[in-house]
Amino acid sequence: MIRSAKRFDNIELSLIRQINALATPLSVNLGIGEPNVEPDETMREMARRAATVSWHYSANAGNLSLRRRVGDSFGYDAKDEICITAGTQEGLYAILQAYVDPGDEVLVPDPGFLSYATIARICGATPVPYALDPPDWRLDAGAVLKKITPKTKLIIVNSPSNPLGSVVDHETLQAIAGAGPLVVSDEVYSEIWYGEAPPSMTHMSDNVIVVGGMSKSHAMTGLRLAWVLARADVLKPVVTAHQYIATCASVFSQALAEEIFASGEWNDAWLRSIRAQFRRQREAALSAIHRELEAEIPPPPAAFYAFVPVPACESVAFAKSLATDAAVLVVPGVAFGKGGEGFVRISYAASLDQIGSGIERMGRYLRALGK
Ligand SMILES: Cc1ncc(COP(=O)(O)O)c(C=O)c1O
Repeated sequence: MIRSAKRFDNIELSLIRQINALATPLSVNLGIGEPNVEPDETMREMARRAATVSWHYSANAGNLSLRRRVGDSFGYDAKDEICITAGTQEGLYAILQAYVDPGDEVLVPDPGFLSYATIARICGATPVPYALDPPDWRLDAGAVLKKITPKTKLIIVNSPSNPLGSVVDHETLQAIAGAGPLVVSDEVYSEIWYGEAPPSMTHMSDNVIVVGGMSKSHAMTGLRLAWVLARADVLKPVVTAHQYIATCASVFSQALAEEIFASGEWNDAWLRSIRAQFRRQREAALSAIHRELEAEIPPPPAAFYAFVPVPACESVAFAKSLATDAAVLVVPGVAFGKGGEGFVRISYAASLDQIGSGIERMGRYLRALGK
């Protein structure tokens, strides 16, 4: 047996993948982390045009023409403040490779997107969780600042949040931007909201790196298209890391993204329509959660997740037996950190039928367990 690198000791496929592996054709899947949206005819036409561009490498940081579009949208310099990456996941990996050394500490939200802690560990660093507390999962800047030590290399903020659907307010973001260490703000869900647009960390401070992309807003998860935004000197090592990871993002996806940015009116209508769809799905999920699970949760203001307390036992055992015995897939809360124990993540990126029947089956299963 050939031994894998030590930095991959105890790094496993995520629990989300493990739960998804229990799916059968009859399962109701409320474990999904991607929009249940298909491209419309306009987007398919854009994709056909995008397929006619050169298939050669682009610049490492991405085509200048796309960077100009991103720059116009977010107010960053196309020349040296934007790097187009193969998804925000690759952007996050490149940032941590560029900045994090063995022995460093990386502050990560708990509950939070699993990749943050995992990538930190791959870099040899220690992920230090900061707690987000139920029921509204507010981020307490003071509590985050208290966790900063001389070893803290960077702080990761995710608003809107996976798995919580919560949003961090402007003042709190500012307090974190001003704390001292490098800050990475993962804003991949920034376009999916139900009340008002969530505040962004763009331009909050010179030490903030913002990542965002089209996976969630345009249901382009398989096309791997995202961006990293930062001051030129902060971005430079990230572009170098990205060069050795991906060389460049797919030029097809870059051309499609450029078409999307260039179609302002269509894009506004697209975003309005997916927000309206997710709003209907959120209402269906919240009322089924109330009716079937007898749980009252504050309506999550963004993304497409509800983080729901389960009176059952351990969340991994519960999610696994729910998958095999009741054919409903949800993600155990502990997959997102210790603070998620006692909860499950229900994704309402599913049809109204699936949302209703999945949560109903879950309620029936819990009642059969006597919970
Ligand atoms: C919070 C968060 N960040 C990043 C990602 C990765 O997205 P991408 O498809 O852009 O790599 C996800 C995907 O689920 C996510 O939930």
